[in-house]
Amino acid sequence: MNRRGFLAAGLASLGAACGLQQAKPGAESSRVALSDVKRLGVLRVDPIAGRCRYVADLGTRQVAQPILFARRGERFDALIENALPQPTTVHFHGLTLSQAQDGAGFDPIPPGERKRVRFEVQNRSGLYWFHPHPHGFTAEQVYAGLVGLLVVTDEDDQVLDAALALAPDNRLALAIADVRLGNGVIRPYAPGATDCLNGWFGNQALVNGRLDAAWTVAPGWVRLQILNACNARGLLLGFRDRNETEKERLLPFHLLGTDGGLLAAPRELDRVFLHGGERVDVALEASGRRALQAVSLDFDARHHAQSAAAAHRHPARERYAPLAAEAVCESASEAREGPADGTEMALFSLRVEGAPVRPPPLPTRLSGLAETDPLPDTPTRRVRLDFDERSGFLIDQTPYAVDETGFSVRRGAREVWEIKNSPISMPHPMHLHGFGFRVLRRQGTFGAARKFATEPGGRFATDLGVKDTVLAWPNETLWLALDFSLPRQEAFGGPQRYMFHCHNLEHEDGMMMRNITVL
Ligand code: C2O
Ligand code: CU
Ligand code: CU
Repeated sequence: MNRRGFLAAGLASLGAACGLQQAKPGAESSRVALSDVKRLGVLRVDPIAGRCRYVADLGTRQVAQPILFARRGERFDALIENALPQPTTVHFHGLTLSQAQDGAGFDPIPPGERKRVRFEVQNRSGLYWFHPHPHGFTAEQVYAGLVGLLVVTDEDDQVLDAALALAPDNRLALAIADVRLGNGVIRPYAPGATDCLNGWFGNQALVNGRLDAAWTVAPGWVRLQILNACNARGLLLGFRDRNETEKERLLPFHLLGTDGGLLAAPRELDRVFLHGGERVDVALEASGRRALQAVSLDFDARHHAQSAAAAHRHPARERYAPLAAEAVCESASEAREGPADGTEMALFSLRVEGAPVRPPPLPTRLSGLAETDPLPDTPTRRVRLDFDERSGFLIDQTPYAVDETGFSVRRGAREVWEIKNSPISMPHPMHLHGFGFRVLRRQGTFGAARKFATEPGGRFATDLGVKDTVLAWPNETLWLALDFSLPRQEAFGGPQRYMFHCHNLEHEDGMMMRNITVL
């Protein structure tokens, strides 16, 4: 039986049993120290709903969907085994790595093969993550459950936990993804033309792989490191008291950090906008409350683009079976779309249990991070995000080509990037591999999004700190400061190729990517 036949048979015989059960509470992701990982396997577990997960081999036991913990400076050394019927890679989103360890898709691991990956964690403390990046298969594999968290700790991070007097259960690392649930199962990835244009949206949130996710915390400070792991959905994150009579009231919280670690000082907010690939680190105070609900609030998602023709079919896809059902971008989808981007969605809840405490004050300094002021003669690179009816979303009118040099930069160079998004486009969370950057300024933000612009330079709170992913709304121009030196001046040996792309995964698979070559 060929692979396609095998998968079809699996679909028929397993019935509607798997998806929901896999997603039910109980399977708490466990913490695993980076230094204990012997081999990080990729395992296909559930062909019916196409669910997949990472499994870490610790020698004596196997841990599914581990949350990896590493101290800055620690090393990762493991064999990555591809047990999927498709090529895959493991990309460490946000980490400073050489091309060979970045997992960006230049050399995918074929089905059934292994690759040794070794690197040192050079980055600041923060929430980083890993996911597949094989060109043309990324969206499908991430949606199938291949999302892993890596928490990096350092001195600043430990000082903060001590200052907050965090109870052991009051610090959580959370990956939020949306899935399409129907008749009790997670629907397999099968995008129609509209999904490939706007992105694939789910109707339910899955947090660390669980539906209706809930955690129990103690009174006092709670620290949440949250990743938006959705294929395409933006999240306007807020918290409510479940027992509050004024149901709509939002609880204040404090933004401690973003993609690449802690801010210099916390910011008090009542909502924060988090797009695909972005992370926030927040503290909220749970004393005197019994149950909190995290929600994504309604927002104007500003999807301007209209096209029937932007459907794409990736050549690499022709040779491998989809993980679950037939996956194409060509069909007019039969009303299978999830609720639109910007629709309110419950995310997860926190139960507060234990004796009341008086929480210590929030520290006023979190890290020594300085504001960036690029030197006046820093060269500016102009990048245009385009949309056209025939080719869909492009960067500088150029569809992705694996072998292109793309933008070339010198190791150690500093640049300002001016990124302008087309007024007839849609929001694009733009991500750069290998290097963190700072957001300097935003301009041209439309009315409804301007209320997130609480910071100097028209910036959003999520623009603060060290970033690797930044949202560009339609019509906006963003200015970023980049520094292509390495934290430690070690040689990676020769020119290194990285990627710059939209983290809406349907756009990414649809060619909205460019290479960056560091010479
Ligand atoms: Cu998180 Cu190039 O991706
Ligand atoms: Cu990345
Ligand atoms: Cu995009």
